[in-house]
Amino acid sequence: MPAQCVAVIPGDGIGAEVTDAAQAVLDAVSARHGIALTYDRFDWSCHRYAETGEMMPSDAIETLRPYDAVLLGAVGWPGVPDHVSLWGLLIPIRRAFRQYANVRPVRVFEGVESPLRAARAGEVDLVVVRENVEGEYSEVGGRLNRGFPDEIAVQESVFTRVGVERITRHAFELARTRRRRLTSATKSNGIVHTMPFWDEVVSEVAADYPDVEWESELIDALAAKVVLEPARFDVIVASNLFGDILSDLTAAVAGSIGIAPSANLDPTHTYPSMFEPVHGSAPDIAGKALANPVGAVWSAALMLEHLGHEAAGADVLRAIETAMADPATRTPDIGGEATTDEVKERLVDLVG
Ligand SMILES: NC(=O)c1ccc[n+]([C@@H]2O[C@H](COP(=O)([O-])OP(=O)(O)OC[C@H]3O[C@@H](n4cnc5c(N)ncnc54)[C@H](O)[C@@H]3O)[C@@H](O)[C@H]2O)c1
Repeated sequence: MPAQCVAVIPGDGIGAEVTDAAQAVLDAVSARHGIALTYDRFDWSCHRYAETGEMMPSDAIETLRPYDAVLLGAVGWPGVPDHVSLWGLLIPIRRAFRQYANVRPVRVFEGVESPLRAARAGEVDLVVVRENVEGEYSEVGGRLNRGFPDEIAVQESVFTRVGVERITRHAFELARTRRRRLTSATKSNGIVHTMPFWDEVVSEVAADYPDVEWESELIDALAAKVVLEPARFDVIVASNLFGDILSDLTAAVAGSIGIAPSANLDPTHTYPSMFEPVHGSAPDIAGKALANPVGAVWSAALMLEHLGHEAAGADVLRAIETAMADPATRTPDIGGEATTDEVKERLVDLVG
């Protein structure tokens, strides 16, 4: 099998620390499974923006196009407005490569205590499937009368039949490989055009999956239920905004945002998909060896799965389970004292 090429964008803050750990684990598991991966690193970041005025070069998308996957750390740094870092790097990549499915698994691992009494290890195992390229995060809109008392801002939500249908289908297909339960997040009581449309399309798609039990929940009630009864959920499909917020909530339910992974998938495999931890660049702990690398390493496991190396991905997940169950390999965010490197080295040993 020819080598598969991964573009690595460490980004800012702890992004570099956690992608280093992910790459080390990938190297060890690849050697064991005879997988040939090559990497090219790109310094695209807020640091670069400060020097050149651009988060990434104008031909960045063309540069990434031939790669098999993108592994990203995190972007964002004080001094650069967040909408600049987001729209200057992450969002263009997600959109240019039609990574319309943002898949975010959540598990409570043995040894990682959830802040919720109702969330026990082995019981909470869910996936948030977030629509990733349209919805509430749209470029349609503008500002008028800037600086005047009658200044206004308008932002349109854009929901297309193609967009809603394909993300719903992806979520139902995923539910089929799991416990066959799907929850659709809606808000059709308050958002009277786009959300009833979302509901209609979801229920049309559901007719093709009679073997999957599904329900529609208002996002506010759903947020409460995720806290009160997290174990009842299997796959949750949500629009861009709802999925974004819900997946930070579910990550917190699992004990720390530091362990939550994310896959930005083009399920058609036409373009490279991108894998990144859910967390940001964490300026408060950057450079202190405190970053939990598990979110990035689990994201690398999702990348292996997407590239056709399911057994290697499963090995990485098992290694994470073992490391989390051992107090010696937990970082401070989950109640331990281990450094980023200590967790990395344990994971490398476990998969090697
Ligand atoms: N996908 C991304 O690249 C992404 C996502 C979210 C935020 N951001 C950016 O990151 C910057 C910081 O944002 P924020 O502070 O709101 O969110 P954050 O995720 O960076 O940090 C939130 C809190 O969680 C902790 N934390 C995060 N990751 C951790 C890890 N791996 N191990 C241990 N603790 C961890 C941090 O120390 C902090 O207290 C902002 O510029 C923001 O725009 C980027």
